[in-house]
Amino acid sequence: MTKRVAVIGAGPSGLAQLRAFQSAAEKGAEVPEVVCFERQADWGGIWNYTWRTGTDEHGEPVHCSMYRYLWSNGPKECLEFADYTFEEHFGRPIASYPPRAVLWDYIKGRVEKAGVRSWIRFSSPVRWVQYNEDKDNFSVTVQNLVDGHSYTEEFDYVIVASGHFSTPNVPDFEGLATFNGRVMHAHDFRDALEFKDKDLLIIGTSYSAEDIGSQCYKYGARSITCSHRTAPMGFHWPDNWEEVPLLTRVEKNTCHFKDGSSREIDAIIMCTGYLHHFPFLPDELRLQTGNRLWPLDLYKGIFWEANPKLMYLGMQDQFYTFNMFDAQAWYARDAILGRITLPDQEEMVRHSQVWRAREEKLEDDEQMIWFQGDYVQDLINETDYPSFDVEGVNKTFMEWEHHKHEDIMTFRNNAYRSLMTGNMQPAHHTPWLEAMDDSMESYLASS
Ligand SMILES: Cc1cc2nc3c(=O)[nH]c(=O)nc-3n(C[C@H](O)[C@H](O)[C@H](O)COP(=O)(O)OP(=O)(O)OC[C@H]3O[C@@H](n4cnc5c(N)ncnc54)[C@H](O)[C@@H]3O)c2cc1C
Ligand SMILES: NC(=O)c1ccc[n+]([C@@H]2O[C@H](COP(=O)([O-])OP(=O)(O)OC[C@H]3O[C@@H](n4cnc5c(N)ncnc54)[C@H](OP(=O)(O)O)[C@@H]3O)[C@@H](O)[C@H]2O)c1
Repeated sequence: MTKRVAVIGAGPSGLAQLRAFQSAAEKGAEVPEVVCFERQADWGGIWNYTWRTGTDEHGEPVHCSMYRYLWSNGPKECLEFADYTFEEHFGRPIASYPPRAVLWDYIKGRVEKAGVRSWIRFSSPVRWVQYNEDKDNFSVTVQNLVDGHSYTEEFDYVIVASGHFSTPNVPDFEGLATFNGRVMHAHDFRDALEFKDKDLLIIGTSYSAEDIGSQCYKYGARSITCSHRTAPMGFHWPDNWEEVPLLTRVEKNTCHFKDGSSREIDAIIMCTGYLHHFPFLPDELRLQTGNRLWPLDLYKGIFWEANPKLMYLGMQDQFYTFNMFDAQAWYARDAILGRITLPDQEEMVRHSQVWRAREEKLEDDEQMIWFQGDYVQDLINETDYPSFDVEGVNKTFMEWEHHKHEDIMTFRNNAYRSLMTGNMQPAHHTPWLEAMDDSMESYLASS
């Protein structure tokens, strides 16, 4: 009987899995039946933008954490698919830091070409996954949000590609209940214009803090105060931007910080990260981890060591994104097709611990990038995913880091060479700080 594979989520990771199987089938391999369940009505995962926050029209939690005017925070040359280049999709080289709509279009282009949309059941959240010891398979319970009907089907393999940047991590601070203004998490941030002429407090120091603060600066916030728990970001910020220690207490609009200082604040945005959240998985199958480069319990960062017929894609913290998800998906596919033999559980655990020990010694972003590059290289060495210049991608990331430290408000004006086509990409027609229109039409216009 044909084997069956369930893929949970049609974001970049889940779509990579569909493309991996389709590319094997295209080359003549016999592939299992693949069914992808997607909670949203369309594909693209977090890139499928919605104005909604909180719950959607079905009462489901809104998945999207993206916002208007979001531009890629890293060069597109670092995430480019090795089997479908930007130049193939857009017909020419384009600038290096595209806005969200451009990247969504690119993600869709590859899977439209592959013709895998019919493999996906949309508006279909997976509610529960259970392993059946007697049959050595899984029962997957799904709800069809359109007709409300729930049903259960059996699968030989389950691939969890449900993302981990959608369930906000929201700490509490003393006195927040007395604050006379908007308090929100980055997940619910949509339009920086809401904070024009406001004094804004941002909590956190990672990518959301840096980018949401920069958006609000660009669209006219009066001042930005950024509060850190561990260390300040240390970029050369504009004059109305300040970094302060952690928020300790709020009294109406007065925010007090660990160093004894205080500021009058109109709105607070918690850029405090996300939780790995899998309400559809029982304890014995559920990954439990923080946002890090080497979560434990996943052999090769993919296979649930206690039961490797369950796989996870994209659960690492991410410098590498789309082409790393591809590397994982191709590897998962080849294990399912029997082209790769997995070691026993003891060896899987030992292997993961070696990577974890190395991860724990990493001291800065540059070392983390080389580490994740080694991981991607390790995976692509063993499959037919088109080989690409991982070292070149690492070096592009180094340039990106360098450009950010030179000037955090201009780094997106730089252009890089594609590691897939070898072609230098053009600079964007308008400096990022002056480019207020984030539409695809505006980005692709020649001037
Ligand atoms: C604000 C923000 C900006 C980002 N910007 C960039 C960037 O510029 N460049 C970059 O490379 N990366 C960026 N990322 C990283 C992002 O994580 C990846 O680009 C990518 O979207 C991850 O893909 P994924 O498929 O693993 O997860 P997601 O994109 O989150 O997709 C997961 C999918 O699973 C579905 N799903 C969830 N639960 C269920 C369920 N129970 N049943 C069925 N379906 C389910 C969701 O609806 C969703 O479609 C950004 C992340 C955030 C939060
Ligand atoms: N334009 C873009 O492309 C864009 C924009 C935004 C986000 N993103 C992506 O989104 C993903 C998530 O980034 P993220 O910044 O949301 O999450 P993150 O990288 O996990 O960072 C979480 C931050 O929250 C802080 N934090 C957590 N708990 C806290 C607490 N109790 N008090 C104070 N601070 C706390 C952490 O501080 P410590 O350092 O002290 O732990 C850290 O600075 C990344 O992959 C990023 O690339 C992309």
